[in-house]
Parts: sequence; structure tokens; C-alpha cells
Amino acid sequence: MEIAGNVALVTGAASGLGEATVRRLHAAGAEVVLADVNDAGGRAVAGDLGDEDRFVHCDVTSESDVAAAVDNAALRGRLAILVHCGGGGTSARTVARDGRPHDLDAFRRVVELNLVGSFNVLRLASAAMAKNDPDGGGERGACVLTASIAGYEGQIGQVAYGSAKAGVIGMTIIAARDLAAMGVRVNTIAPGTIATPPMMMAPAAMREAFAGNVPFPKRLGQPDEYAALAEHIVENGYLNGEVIRLDGAVRFQPK
Ligand SMILES: NC(=O)c1ccc[n+]([C@@H]2O[C@H](COP(=O)([O-])OP(=O)(O)OC[C@H]3O[C@@H](n4cnc5c(N)ncnc54)[C@H](O)[C@@H]3O)[C@@H](O)[C@H]2O)c1
Repeated sequence: MEIAGNVALVTGAASGLGEATVRRLHAAGAEVVLADVNDAGGRAVAGDLGDEDRFVHCDVTSESDVAAAVDNAALRGRLAILVHCGGGGTSARTVARDGRPHDLDAFRRVVELNLVGSFNVLRLASAAMAKNDPDGGGERGACVLTASIAGYEGQIGQVAYGSAKAGVIGMTIIAARDLAAMGVRVNTIAPGTIATPPMMMAPAAMREAFAGNVPFPKRLGQPDEYAALAEHIVENGYLNGEVIRLDGAVRFQPK
């Protein structure tokens, strides 16, 4: 699908993978709407693109926030691109070393943010895309979700996050089938360890250990490598229902 001339909604747009995607899609000619709970960061990125009003405050777990962000995007033109990056995680074991079981509300919060949030954004954005006129290839939209390789082989302490991301991986083929009749594609990127702000705030020794475990190239991924893949997924009309690992061939060890 052509990027230029379409409207793109990017969640988690104030930082990291979302910010890199905003910049790439903007450079490729999309009209980008930025959604995030981080107002200052989102406005700053939008301001860099020349228009702070492209930013919409949006909690991806809120039905009304996401509906408003989708409406905002659809009013600007043909909303045909979604890249959903809003998310994040915490760390706790199923049973802590002192014998305490994982807090159930903490587990629910991580699932709500990463799994329910992904579905909330996907269902509302794709419902708007279904109203588009199809392009020459019959496409009405392309959606990119963000999982994690922790959804396949989460490390110790990632039980909530890995479970939520496994749900995003599982959702991909089903949503692609659900939306096929409408000409809306759904794909997911499962990143390894990418040098976004949360990772860059980790101790240097931890970052070096992550980088050292990557077979090749022996480094963390760059946010623009994610954005480049998201851009390709949007452009490649035959890519559908797929989860693509972006990880330098690393397979997470237990810790
Ligand atoms: N960086 C990595 O190594 C890595 C690896 C695998 C998966 N991921 C996933 O990629 C996505 C982006 O992560 P990142 O590394 O760019 O982190 P980041 O912290 O730089 O960006 C995440 C953005 O999401 C926003 N956000 C958080 N909760 C939100 C909510 N409820 N509604 C809307 N926005 C919200 C934050 O404000 C932030 O701007 C996340 O889903 C993360 O789980 C990241």
C-alpha cells in the first residue's frame, strides 16, 4: 500500500519505536497522528514535524480515548495505516524468592496495557479503515502491532509481559482472517532488545550483556530498524497475518 497520501495513526508515539515510526512515515509522505499518554513528549515530537496538533492524548486501554484518536485521524483524510507501539512491562516472578505469589492486579495491569490495549486500538482503527474506498490492490488498511520475543521465550520475571505479548502474537493471524473481507491487513513485529529509552536507562553492564548474546550483529537494535520494518510491512501488500522477529537471531535465555 502507498504510504504517501494516507493518514497513519501511531500509538506510543512520544518515544522509542513509536517516535521512530512517526518520523519515518512522515518522511514517506503520510499524514501522521501521534497518540500517547506522554503529553509533553508527544507534543515535542509532533512539534518537530511542524504541527503540535498532530498529537492526541490517548491511553490505549481507554475506549473513549482511542475512539477520539481514530476520529481525529479519520477527519484528516484516509486513515489506512496503524502502527501500535504503546505498551511496556514490569518484572516479577510467578512466585518471588521470599515465597510471595505474583500480585494478581499487577499481572492484570500488564495484560490490560499490552494485550487488551492492542486489541482496543486494532478493533477501532480497523473499523474506521473498513469505511475506506479500496486502493488498486483492494486494500483499505494495514495494521502493525508490537509484540516481543518475550512472547515466545520470556525470561524469568517476564510472566505477565510475556503472556500479554504471546496474546498479541496469537491475535495476529486471527485478526488478519477477521479483517480479510474488508481488505485490512494485520501483521506484528516481535522485537528483541532495541535501544529505546527504557533500555538505555538500564545499567551499561545489562545492555552489554543483552548485546553480547545477539549472534549477529552483536549490538542492540536501533529504533529506526523497527520503523523501517513497519514501513515495509505497510508497503508490501502480500504480507498478512505474520509475526516477524526483529532480533539479530537472539533467543532469550532464562535470564
Ligand atoms: N525496546 C525494546 O527492546 C522492546 C522489545 C520488545 C518489545 N517492545 C515493545 O515495543 C513497544 C514500544 O516500546 P519502546 O521500547 O519504544 O518503549 P518507550 O517507553 O520508549 O515507548 C513506549 C511509549 O508508549 C507509551 N505508553 C505507555 N502506556 C501507554 C498507554 N496506556 N497508552 C498510550 N501510550 C502509552 C509511553 O508513554 C511511551 O511513549 C512496547 O509495546 C514494548 O513492549 C520493546
